[in-house]
Amino acid sequence: MSATHQPVLLVTGASGHMGRRVIELLLDAQAGPIIATTRTPASLSDFSARGVTVRRADFDDPATLPDAFAGADRLLLISTDAVGMSDRRIRQHLAAVQAAQDAGVSHVVYTSLPNPGPESPISLAPDHQATEDALAASTMGWTALRNNVYTEMLPGALAQAIQMGSLYRASGDGKVGYVTREDCARAAAAALVAPFTGRRTLDITGPDALSGADLAALASSISGKPVTYVPLPPDVLRENLRKAGLPGPVIDVIVSFDEAAAQGLLDVVTSAVEDLTGHAPMPVAEFLAQNKEVLLGTPQR
Ligand SMILES: NC(=O)c1ccc[n+]([C@@H]2O[C@H](COP(=O)([O-])OP(=O)(O)OC[C@H]3O[C@@H](n4cnc5c(N)ncnc54)[C@H](OP(=O)(O)O)[C@@H]3O)[C@@H](O)[C@H]2O)c1
Repeated sequence: MSATHQPVLLVTGASGHMGRRVIELLLDAQAGPIIATTRTPASLSDFSARGVTVRRADFDDPATLPDAFAGADRLLLISTDAVGMSDRRIRQHLAAVQAAQDAGVSHVVYTSLPNPGPESPISLAPDHQATEDALAASTMGWTALRNNVYTEMLPGALAQAIQMGSLYRASGDGKVGYVTREDCARAAAAALVAPFTGRRTLDITGPDALSGADLAALASSISGKPVTYVPLPPDVLRENLRKAGLPGPVIDVIVSFDEAAAQGLLDVVTSAVEDLTGHAPMPVAEFLAQNKEVLLGTPQR
């Protein structure tokens, strides 16, 4: 790359929450040129109008990827939502990694998971581990952003807990380094733009890790109603969710995340968000206060 060449930045999954936000941040920062890939290019006409090159890419159809990735220097690979379909998701991500290398991409930023190794009980951990392994085996530079659990998962769950007066989880005393999707998007945009060309793994977390008891106390103080944390054995939580009518793969995700929390695998707090973006990540208490009406309203989970 010559000194005058501005790296061409590519974001996959650009119509998702994370993808859209990253592209908005890149546009605001006048980074670029920017390529956005998605299965639904028509949904990104607003970005086309702002100078973003929008192309179709579907990881389930690897033949779409060479044209989609052509000319990109740095690529943000957003993990897909094929959750509960591990083989398919691994195929999707590995196709994207191979296509990025074939297209001459120099650096891939990937949205991963904390501690995705074989020790993790999380049902979708093998997908992330396989993708990190594929990046390690590639000839490209990469940044694995191990995004902790989105804080956005909390308001719906805590609204239900406030209504019932109890927060039921199988996470024992384990803590989670909740991070907002906004902070994840800011970190991803910064890592994509950064001049870093090597290989690194960064845990993307909020400023504190919180336990189930911490969450119940927050829900209680925000709502003014008593909320007690009730730790459950995983099998009991699984059975309760089954009786509530949730699909098996969704139950697997919820219970296995709780088991990982109980084992301390999500109790990770780093300065990576601030290091990358220059801004401290948002505390859970602040996010919940901003979403107070959701906590006090209709339960969502
Ligand atoms: N850390 C957490 O707590 C947490 C929570 C939820 C999700 N996640 C992960 O983070 C990712 C981004 O989060 P989000 O909130 O932006 O999710 P989202 O809004 O549900 O977006 C789903 C993403 O998957 C992409 N996708 C699905 N199938 C694809 C395919 N065949 N080929 C290429 N891309 C495909 C979509 O891209 P297009 O529709 O544009 O093609 C979109 O970017 C999720 O997909 C999931 O892997 C993490």
